Amino acid sequence: MSETVLTLENVETYYGKIHALRGISLSVKQGQIVTLLGANGAGKSTTLRTVSGLVRCAKGRVIFLGKDITRIDPHHIVRRGLIQVPEGRRIFKGMSIQENLELGSFTLKDDAERRRRMARVFDIFPILEQRRNQDASLLSGGEQQMLAMGRGLMTDPKLLLLDEPSMGLAPFLVQEIMRIIRRLNEDGVTILLVEQNAKVALKLADYGYVLETGRIVMESDAASLQQDERIIKAYLGT
Ligand SMILES: Nc1ncnc2c1ncn2[C@@H]1O[C@H](COP(=O)(O)OP(=O)(O)OP(=O)(O)O)[C@@H](O)[C@H]1O
Ligand SMILES: [Mg+2]
Repeated sequence: MSETVLTLENVETYYGKIHALRGISLSVKQGQIVTLLGANGAGKSTTLRTVSGLVRCAKGRVIFLGKDITRIDPHHIVRRGLIQVPEGRRIFKGMSIQENLELGSFTLKDDAERRRRMARVFDIFPILEQRRNQDASLLSGGEQQMLAMGRGLMTDPKLLLLDEPSMGLAPFLVQEIMRIIRRLNEDGVTILLVEQNAKVALKLADYGYVLETGRIVMESDAASLQQDERIIKAYLGT
């Protein structure tokens, strides 16, 4: 039986009076790609932010690799190998591509290990190597997404949280990003993926959860979700 990497137990999160998560329970197993589907405002990003400690849940627990991380500081969560690539990229402009990548491994003392990780990132994203000395602000939207993912990979993550990696990208770049997500997963990275593009997400994922106003209303293996009339109607369109 494969190991459970992440478990959420009845997680409830508020923003002031807004009850954004109303009891989320889910799990992600070693080697899986799990996707969260749901309309705008359903609580997908909040779920990821709660896991990575960027927002605090009021109730419930988050368990990562058998340890309760509910009250652990975000930077300690990162050190344990749980990395969120945020929605909207957040790359650092005014810094080169290489410097942006180095930020992903700033706690690492082992230079040889840093070079090894960077070589891996460049292997996955050759465009970043070609332009390593350029300012990150010169990258296109899709390239910025690659840089944000590359920076996440510099931490050598065990679990990667991806928030809308295809947002705003041209269709051919969506395919490219999805190909890269699959490759990372084949390399052993477990992935929790949030995607507005449900068709693409379900194609990649092993398992999916559907969120509505802070609750999970459906869950199943991705193949079954793809066949489900309600999912087709609400998310896969025609
Ligand atoms: N920083 C914030 N302050 C107050 N309310 C917030 C904040 N961030 C999110 N919310 C609210 O919490 C709820 C869940 O938002 P969240 O961003 O998690 O949704 P989402 O599923 O990621 O949506 P989208 O698909 O639009 O990204 C929404 O009602 C949203 O308005
Ligand atoms: Mg969101």
